[in-house]
Amino acid sequence: MTETVARGLEGINVTATKLCRIDGLKGELVYSGYDIYDLADHSTFEEVSFLLWNQRLPSKAELAELNQRLIAERGLDEIIERLLRELHTLVRPMRTLEIAVEVLGAVDRASSDLTQPQLKLTAARLTAKMATAIAAYHRIRQGLPVVAPRDDLGHAANFLYMLNGREPNALEARTFDVAMILHAEHEMNASTFSAIVTASTLSDMYSAIASAIGTLKGPLHGGANEAVYKTVDAIGEEQNIASHVEAMLARGERVMGIGHRVYKTTDPRAIILERLGHEVAKQSPDRKYFDLSLKLRDYLAKKLEGKPLYPNVDFFSASVYKMLGIPSDLYTPIFALARITGWTAHLLEQYADNRLVRPNALYEGADNRSYVGVDQR
Ligand code: ACO
Repeated sequence: MTETVARGLEGINVTATKLCRIDGLKGELVYSGYDIYDLADHSTFEEVSFLLWNQRLPSKAELAELNQRLIAERGLDEIIERLLRELHTLVRPMRTLEIAVEVLGAVDRASSDLTQPQLKLTAARLTAKMATAIAAYHRIRQGLPVVAPRDDLGHAANFLYMLNGREPNALEARTFDVAMILHAEHEMNASTFSAIVTASTLSDMYSAIASAIGTLKGPLHGGANEAVYKTVDAIGEEQNIASHVEAMLARGERVMGIGHRVYKTTDPRAIILERLGHEVAKQSPDRKYFDLSLKLRDYLAKKLEGKPLYPNVDFFSASVYKMLGIPSDLYTPIFALARITGWTAHLLEQYADNRLVRPNALYEGADNRSYVGVDQR
């Protein structure tokens, strides 16, 4: 048994995967052999979902079949609507999503069927229904009617439609579709690991995804995009950037959206999101946050020069979502709506070749103590 501790499991391969390769020094991200820049330029979220679930791109017929499946699963279940009406004043969106996923598992009589065909159906079901649940939650909390899904829209466009009650224009729909592609998968990040640990006990896919959602929520992981928004909002104007950042660093705080466990150069997803941001900003009445994010990025590049701290995916997703009219507390749930495909793809791999995840801990506590009764202590 090893006498060292791998803090944060940094540099440890916990499993093998065919889904994703990251080169953190070169800034490369590859899904099953396809470069993220290529996928962002040419693919769709649905196609990438198929890729992750099958490690190959779909034929036309296979893509049409997947689209039909996602459309068929889009409806809001009555039990989820009741739950959202009950919970929306009590619980923030990420926990709502976590609960909704567990409830979907509770009502799915096939939830304990861990065969690959059934798991793929569950993966598509969760992908469709989580998006509907978040859109409905947002409508309900505003006192607005829930918007029924539209069969003629792609997954990303339909989500924006259900959320805002307005069909997005082509640029908005494409931008959101690409943002979902960028967030779909990222190797053995904390939330994926948490899903795998749960599945490795042969617990079902719904519980594994609920674990992942709980893990994504934290500000060092998926919660960083909302935190970036709060930082930019608190800065407010360009002239406040230096004083705000200096004060944060002096307090020992981290600048959210900066730094990554794996990338020691700019995250390629941040580069693609910045490009998209420039396009959206041309038509957006609400480009202030994006412009301020660019200035903040430039300031931090000088301030942190020489340190391996660069923008990560969350840095620009905040201001891009802002320009799409999405409220900041939905940024992390939206991350989950995309990452559900990567999570479930890893779960397919895990269930196909399972081994219980059960590491050790190095004991540092006391030894050889004799028990003393409570009256003698
Ligand atoms: N701002 C300022 N300093 C930072 C930041 C930051 N965002 N990130 C790391 N550092 C500093 C640390 O203080 C540390 O400095 P030190 O060596 O002088 O003590 C050094 O960089 C190394 O930091 P670690 O914590 O060892 O790096 P780690 O790999 O654990 O951190 C993490 C990765 C958690 C993402 C970190 O960079 C961070 O907290 N970033 C802000 C949160 C964030 O944006 N999270 C989203 C990540 S992407 C995602 O999950 C989708």
